[in-house]
Amino acid sequence: MSVFVSHSPADTEAFAADFAARLKRGDVLALYGGLGVGKTAFVRGLARGLGTTSEVSSPTFALVHEYDGRLPVAHFDMYRIHCMDDLYSTGFYDYLDSGNVLVIEWSENVEPYLPDGIYRIRIARGNAENERTLTIEDENSVR
Ligand SMILES: Nc1ncnc2c1ncn2[C@@H]1O[C@H](COP(=O)(O)OP(=O)(O)O)[C@@H](O)[C@H]1O
Ligand SMILES: [Mg+2]
Repeated sequence: MSVFVSHSPADTEAFAADFAARLKRGDVLALYGGLGVGKTAFVRGLARGLGTTSEVSSPTFALVHEYDGRLPVAHFDMYRIHCMDDLYSTGFYDYLDSGNVLVIEWSENVEPYLPDGIYRIRIARGNAENERTLTIEDENSVR
């Protein structure tokens, strides 16, 4: 487990861009933390680190956005997903074997359906307005 304390959106993005260097095809990143905590900011940095030139925004209505770069990324927002049928309709299960890096906002809503061997990134607000604590768990490193 590792912890990073961010003091600005730019900090969060830069951390995520560095984090992206360790990713390989098919990696899954589950993001946790409530509205406005910085999940999309993290994905923006991650996608930038992988070399995408696309705009990154929460796929709240589209459910999934795709970005190209060193690795292809599928960016999910599970805010409206509450059961396996909902999840199925996002195409999530097809993406799982696609070789895309999957990065999932609102993973709380799909916890029972997440695969093994994933990264879990929990973001929490700190005391100062722009402070965020990012806690990273890599299931593969605890095996
Ligand atoms: N340290 C920080 N890291 C990320 N976002 C921050 C930080 N401090 C303040 N913010 C603000 O919090 C909001 C995060 O928005 P967003 O990334 O869309 O959150 P989420 O996807 O979790 O709902 C933005 O308005 C951003 O400017
Ligand atoms: Mg978001």
